[in-house]
Amino acid sequence: MSLERPKSEKLFGEAKRHLVGGVNSPIRAFQKLDITPLIARLGKEDLIVDEDGNEYIDYCMSYGPLILGHTPQNVVADTIEQVKRGSSFGNTCMLEIELASLIKSHMRSIKKIRFVSSGTEATMTAIRIARGYTRKKIVIKFSGNYHGHSDGFLAESGSASFYLNTHATSSGILDAVVSNTLSLPFNDIEAVEKIFSTSDIQNDIAAVIVEPIPANMGLINPNPKFLETLRELTSKFNSLLIFDEVISGFRVGLGGAQELYQITPDLTCLGKIIGGGFPVGAIGGRADIMDTLAPLGEVFQAGTLSGNPVAMKAGISTISSLNQSTYQKLQASMNFLVDSISVKIKDCEYPMCVQSETGLFTFFFGVREVKTKSDLKDLDFPMFKKFFQFLFDRGIYIAPSPYEAIFLSTAHTQAHLEKTRDVILEFLDLYVLRSNRSLANSSR
Ligand SMILES: Cc1ncc(COP(=O)(O)O)c(C=O)c1O
Repeated sequence: MSLERPKSEKLFGEAKRHLVGGVNSPIRAFQKLDITPLIARLGKEDLIVDEDGNEYIDYCMSYGPLILGHTPQNVVADTIEQVKRGSSFGNTCMLEIELASLIKSHMRSIKKIRFVSSGTEATMTAIRIARGYTRKKIVIKFSGNYHGHSDGFLAESGSASFYLNTHATSSGILDAVVSNTLSLPFNDIEAVEKIFSTSDIQNDIAAVIVEPIPANMGLINPNPKFLETLRELTSKFNSLLIFDEVISGFRVGLGGAQELYQITPDLTCLGKIIGGGFPVGAIGGRADIMDTLAPLGEVFQAGTLSGNPVAMKAGISTISSLNQSTYQKLQASMNFLVDSISVKIKDCEYPMCVQSETGLFTFFFGVREVKTKSDLKDLDFPMFKKFFQFLFDRGIYIAPSPYEAIFLSTAHTQAHLEKTRDVILEFLDLYVLRSNRSLANSSR
């Protein structure tokens, strides 16, 4: 059973002649899944439709921004109206003020904001601000956290010596550029304490940047004590704590992960939902720190399309639609999917788990719990591949990688949730509950 997709196949062939790998972001190539990538024609509410007219219930939701689903009426109407008034000004406009104050009203740690055009720009700028403000060099990040693709973040530490042995994870990046980025294991309080007690490092740490609820190695639940330790140690050593809430901001609640875990970061990076499906990122935080940015301070940052009025309008329209009942609905939809599946897999021999936070979750095949990146070493990719294909063939689309989250929106209907649950339960019955680890691996 597989969908008829002749036009998508033809178009992807053409795409490969014009675009590198046929895509503009690598994950879209469906690598190793042996399926022609989805070529999107349109999105409507909780559905994405391909160029062959096949409809899929969409749980990728553009990797997070579409919390209201595709084409929510108010966002569509507001952005069309704005396009008619002007799509770019190159000057400050009222919409930037409006979106900034809306974000500030929900995230109390943010006193001033700079809008940029992507999450990558936001995190890159946050680091520059941190180094400019503290006049220190070292940035600590966590393995498996993703902060976009700017040079300094594409660093991983070697296992022999977790802080002295940093190398770039992409070619084209000089070792010198990543040599001041240290990568530690997420949720590992001891590793953080150790680095802050290392005498030649502790006073040269400009910032610790963290995805407080990591969603780029699948969804990981943070140990609250871990986040508290980051806050304590960065305060003690005059380093900045940067929360990368590009995914968690406005997804797990109006106040993001910082409200959920009651931790006040110095800087916050935002993106995705605050642009309502348009390209936006933002850095916000303490006024004295943010004021190191040009034109007030010496840290340079600029952008032709920064604060773009159409994107600002989409962000305002989206965030204004969010309230407590939004998150209750997301939670209820998630519980509906996750609860029955959790019961099913609870006592099964095959190791797997579901990890969730409001509005997003991940099925991990082959492991019973994931707290940090090294727990993923036994991840069962062949089983994920089967799962992805099984869902896709039945008109359900999740992100084409086992390291992503499943994103819910307020547009997901009960009927579609029920269909999804039933298909997943059928998959579990057919391939997981009757299987064991060695059977799954035999199809590699
Ligand atoms: C936590 C996090 N930070 C930063 C980014 C980079 O954002 P963008 O893709 O908009 O550059 C992403 C992208 O997925 C992300 O998940």
